[in-house]
Amino acid sequence: MQTLENSPEHTLEQILPAAQAAFSACSTINDLEQAKARFLGKSGVLTEQLKGLGKLSAEARPAAGAAINVVKQGVEEALKQRRDAILQAEQEKQLASESLDVTLPARARGEGGLHPVTLTLQRIEQLFHSIGFEVAEGPEIETDFYNFTALNIPDDHPARAMHDTFYIDEQHVLRTHTSPVQVHYMQEALKNNSGPPLKIIAPGRVYRVDSDATHSPMFHQVEGLWVDENISFANLKGVVQDFLQRFFERDDLQVRFRPSFFPFTEPSAEMDMSWNGGWLEIGGCGMVHPEVFGHVGIDSEKYRGFAFGLGVERLAMLRYGVNDLRLFFNNDLRFLKQFN
Ligand code: DAH
Repeated sequence: MQTLENSPEHTLEQILPAAQAAFSACSTINDLEQAKARFLGKSGVLTEQLKGLGKLSAEARPAAGAAINVVKQGVEEALKQRRDAILQAEQEKQLASESLDVTLPARARGEGGLHPVTLTLQRIEQLFHSIGFEVAEGPEIETDFYNFTALNIPDDHPARAMHDTFYIDEQHVLRTHTSPVQVHYMQEALKNNSGPPLKIIAPGRVYRVDSDATHSPMFHQVEGLWVDENISFANLKGVVQDFLQRFFERDDLQVRFRPSFFPFTEPSAEMDMSWNGGWLEIGGCGMVHPEVFGHVGIDSEKYRGFAFGLGVERLAMLRYGVNDLRLFFNNDLRFLKQFN
């Protein structure tokens, strides 16, 4: 650094412009403090000037002192101005870094909605509830006994192969249908002395090793069961047709039965409903097989029952006009938002 003694600042007239230049060159308070020391500090140039007064005669001293003071005030004023300017710049910089852009578009809070399958299940439950059916539930991991054996599907029965079962271990499966809920419910009712009569639907998830435009490895069924002393196929047809007419809001909707086979019903039938001039298969049904009553301890001489199973996605696809089952499970919001 230049020593002050040798620098041009040494003469009084040059001190103020030198200080102004030095202060302007500072961009931080810290720099400014150091520059200040060079002019106003204990060994700064102005202090040196004041010390020099002692060498002057008594007559010359007041005028010289006054001149130094004028310069000193000028330097102090320049220092103050620069300090204010630096502080203001720092404050502006900080404000800019913390600023909120209030012109940004607001982030809307997404509103959730119910899944079309859930909406369909709710509708099914509500309609059956209105004609006296309770809603029953059962486990999705079933024992071999409930999923098959109690439903009259013994170990080596070919119907087991029809189900494309997910096995968890030798004794446990992901239930392939909601029919095992029939068994759980009848057992519980007998244990609690709360029936028959029994009148339930059992909606829920079921699982099969199957996947294409009309099959998903997980899908939903709704099981129906009505057990009482004088239940007949006519009751079955009336209940199902009434349900479907109200579900689709079509009073002229018809149901027809085609003979079929299910191990847990006898006789058994496929249910079709009239749709756009043709027939569409929508589930299976039949009269509860005496073997099933035997497994749960209901007297099949005294009681009879009907049972049915409907595919929930099938009903949802028809009601909403959806042509690919997989849309229900891809979780694409563009699809899902249309239902809410
Ligand atoms: N559980 C059968 C299935 O998933 C559907 C079914 C058929 C249910 C006849 C029933 C019934 O209750 O009586 O393929």
